Amino acid sequence: MSRTLITSALPYINGIKHLGTLAGSMLPADVYARFKRAQGIETLYLCATDEHGTTTELAAAEAGLDPATFCERAHKVQHDLGRRFGLSWDHFGRSSSPQNHRLTQQFARQLWEAGFIEERVTQQVYSNTDRRFLPDRYVIGTCPHCGYEAARGDQCENCTRVLDPTDLINPRSAVSGSTDIEVRSSKHLFLRQSVFSDKLRGWIDAKKGQWPLIVTSTALKWLDEGLQDRGITRDVAWGVPVNADAWGPNPDGQRPDVEGLAGKVFYVWFDAPIEYIGVTWEWADARAVAAGRTAADDQDWERWWRLPLAADVTYSEFMGKDNIPFHTVGFPTTLLGVNEKTDGKGVWSPASNAPWKLVDELKGFNYLDYYGGKFSTSQGRGVFMDQALELLPADYWRWWITANSPETSDATFTWEQFQAQVNADLADVLGNFVNRICKFAETRFDAAVPAGGEWGELERKLAADVDAKLAELTGFMEGREFRKATTALRQIWVLGNGYLTEAAPWTAFKADPQRAGVAVRVGLNLVALFAALAEPFIPFTAEKIAGAVGAPFPGRWPAGGVGLLDQLAPGQAVRAPEVLFRKVEDAQVAEWRERFGGPEA
Ligand code: 2FM
Ligand code: ZN
Repeated sequence: MSRTLITSALPYINGIKHLGTLAGSMLPADVYARFKRAQGIETLYLCATDEHGTTTELAAAEAGLDPATFCERAHKVQHDLGRRFGLSWDHFGRSSSPQNHRLTQQFARQLWEAGFIEERVTQQVYSNTDRRFLPDRYVIGTCPHCGYEAARGDQCENCTRVLDPTDLINPRSAVSGSTDIEVRSSKHLFLRQSVFSDKLRGWIDAKKGQWPLIVTSTALKWLDEGLQDRGITRDVAWGVPVNADAWGPNPDGQRPDVEGLAGKVFYVWFDAPIEYIGVTWEWADARAVAAGRTAADDQDWERWWRLPLAADVTYSEFMGKDNIPFHTVGFPTTLLGVNEKTDGKGVWSPASNAPWKLVDELKGFNYLDYYGGKFSTSQGRGVFMDQALELLPADYWRWWITANSPETSDATFTWEQFQAQVNADLADVLGNFVNRICKFAETRFDAAVPAGGEWGELERKLAADVDAKLAELTGFMEGREFRKATTALRQIWVLGNGYLTEAAPWTAFKADPQRAGVAVRVGLNLVALFAALAEPFIPFTAEKIAGAVGAPFPGRWPAGGVGLLDQLAPGQAVRAPEVLFRKVEDAQVAEWRERFGGPEA
């Protein structure tokens, strides 16, 4: 039986994440992980905070803390919010972990010794006012590609192009705002991505049609533009130190310039994806410690990552579209570089007999906007995870976000649409169904699943319809098409409501209690089914629904077919749950629009 490894893009440590981040990575990854576990598949869903880089230094400085203390606190906050949102991480790690430091340094050494890293003297932006280099986000200016005026030195948020600080027009310091800036020389390491162009193209080409179009087209656009070698070190203090003194010579016999590289750290986009492996090691260590050992054995985590041990693992990554280049080109280059070697004349051979796995399924998302504009961490625009939970329980958000997942195009959040949809789907359709049938069973059938009575035409048709929709739903889940999956699930709920309306046990009860009993039994079995199917999407409510009819939680994802609506033993106790979903009121919408801004924001 195959195993499933799932990672969602690692959220930056700075600041609490908004609903857009949840929509484009962590939530769909969680929905998928829960689905795979419910299928009985050995699943590992991992995430971590992305802690290095200039953004962190800037956020820590603003908070008046050193980066290590800032990260420790912010990690706890994000971990807690994720848990309260029902994100079922097997481990939520930290890219600043010792495990990731070791892996990052080991990979860099291997890449150097294989000849895939080279030293270059580069021109870096230096602030005379701040007396420091200003890499990446320390510089702000106008994007040379699209003219966006608040582009950061590493990437333009507007057109998603990757930038170099010296590309920016009208640069200014993010620390002081100073424009007293000059360009100075500094020695840096470059990953020779260009060497891997053909290999990457072959790999991406083979994924066409399998991966979302946005993923393959973004990757191919990068390759078509000619892959640039990428600077992987920075003149900042917070990060994984470049430990060049531990490196051997490269294939030309050259040793690294230990002195010239002293005090530098790796670029955050070099070490962050390596943390996908690092967090697997952290997870294994935590488990080993919980079992009374001091640390994990290497195979405990390598069995998820290194072939041939990991041959039965399907690895799925989830991310927003701005992350696609780093996952289709950047990180794969690191892994290919560690896995392979070349004689320099285009002849390649394996560098190791235990190569690292590349991603199998890469799910990229468009953006979730707020009233058609960007959610913005830096500008505090939109709804953030902590605020969302102050307003409503997690399942409202989980449902709406998944039902509006920005899969094929950008999606937009509005309070009006949110209200309309959660009220209709969750309160009117699902909540109402569960309450209606459970209450009726409580009052008329001694709070137990009725026995006796045969299915009629209506039940047989319902079972066939539900079975067909379930097959559709399962197909969408397998294909990671979550928006379509919510539509199919809603249709199953609607089938249940339609059945109850037609079977009308409340009217049948007097004349034909046995007939009413059949309808109630089928209705309660639908409740159990709804709990199992809703669990990946709205786990907190699914648990209450399962509890109402004594169904196992978390339940198994049903295979369909005979017996689908015949799971509950007659006599099983039934207890109507408290109201599952209160409707979002107009007054609340008005208040929230006022607080968070509406279309005019
Ligand atoms: O864009 C982001 O939020 C990044 N922190 C994602 C990193 S994903 C991985 F490579 F670590
Ligand atoms: Zn731009």
